[in-house]
Amino acid sequence: MLTQSEVLGVLFRLTVFGAATYFGIKWMVDIIDPARRPKIEAKKKAARLMKQIGVEGLKLSEYELTIAAHLVDPRTLKVTWRDIAGLDEVITEVQETVILPFQKRHLFHGSKLLQPPKGVLLYGPPGCGKTLIAKATASVAGCHFINMQASTLTDKWYGESQKLTAAVFSLAAKIEPCIIFIDEIDSFLRNRSCNDHEATAMMKAQFMTLWDGLDTDTDCQVIVMGATNRPQDVDPAILRRMPSTFHVGLPRQRQRQEILKLILSGECLNSEVRLKEIAEKTEGFSGSDLRELCREAALHRLRDLVRKEQMQLIGRQLQVADCEESSTADACLRAITQTDLYLALEKMKESKAGTGTPILQGTPLD
Ligand SMILES: Nc1ncnc2c1ncn2[C@@H]1O[C@H](COP(=O)(O)OP(=O)(O)O)[C@@H](O)[C@H]1O
Ligand SMILES: [Mg+2]
Repeated sequence: MLTQSEVLGVLFRLTVFGAATYFGIKWMVDIIDPARRPKIEAKKKAARLMKQIGVEGLKLSEYELTIAAHLVDPRTLKVTWRDIAGLDEVITEVQETVILPFQKRHLFHGSKLLQPPKGVLLYGPPGCGKTLIAKATASVAGCHFINMQASTLTDKWYGESQKLTAAVFSLAAKIEPCIIFIDEIDSFLRNRSCNDHEATAMMKAQFMTLWDGLDTDTDCQVIVMGATNRPQDVDPAILRRMPSTFHVGLPRQRQRQEILKLILSGECLNSEVRLKEIAEKTEGFSGSDLRELCREAALHRLRDLVRKEQMQLIGRQLQVADCEESSTADACLRAITQTDLYLALEKMKESKAGTGTPILQGTPLD
């Protein structure tokens, strides 16, 4: 028979052994977890960001901190409405639907009809300004903005993704008013299929449930804003939850001219440049194609300058009499000419035709 003190001793040893085993295993799991370092970095980033944007004194869980690392400090964003050309109609709609309810919250209080929508979708071909609009919204809306990536929510450990998903909504509610932005939403909330992994299916279902939960509290201002090039791939259940949709399509001629004007506004342009002509000839170009075209045209001057300098060097080596004089006279970039723009246009059309990218076919794909 064991005495009472012996029983206590055995129990004590068992407890110590159990605790040591638990912490040992936890330590080992932590050590072998390849996401450990990013998690630590994310926490540090989150703490820094929260301080920057003035959200302090909140008690956040480990998962909420991971999500908080994706908060956006509006002051670090360089994009405003003035950096977006040719999309005035969409911008006005976004301002009225998304931003105004946040800014004039006191006027909307108590009205169910005037509450901002819980979901907003920007859709259209790539390179036409969806992400730009989201960035400008973040910088001017005066609310908090979480820039989510699908990869943030996908964790290999079973159950972790659901906890992170829950954290997105609980963090947003704690720091409301808040916009949860999900770029390329199709990659994250695409059509559900029977091939989905169980954890993925559960995460999607949970995302929708939590999203619906936003409706129950009309005073909690949280909006989910998505952007996609492929709306047809987004789960219809998700699309239903985004009643406000904004089509950001390929720019028309007048819009292309405005985009070209904006992109070239900081550059030295020759007086004979006619952007209207270039806009006419760039049917099917997206905003980012136009930026590429302008970049290519601007590079022509640089190539010219380098060529000239090489010629001068050769001239000097051949001891041409006036080479010293011309080297100082030509050492700056000339203005961009219409020919530069045309050459850039030709080059882009050739390369696009070669790679079969949609620009000349007018059918924007991803
Ligand atoms: N309407 C526009 N005005 C000015 N620049 C634009 C416009 N649309 C596209 N761009 C240029 O193309 C780039 C890509 O645009 P982005 O918003 O990322 O496209 P997406 O629709 O694929 O999200 C921008 O960084 C910007 O330089
Ligand atoms: Mg984008």
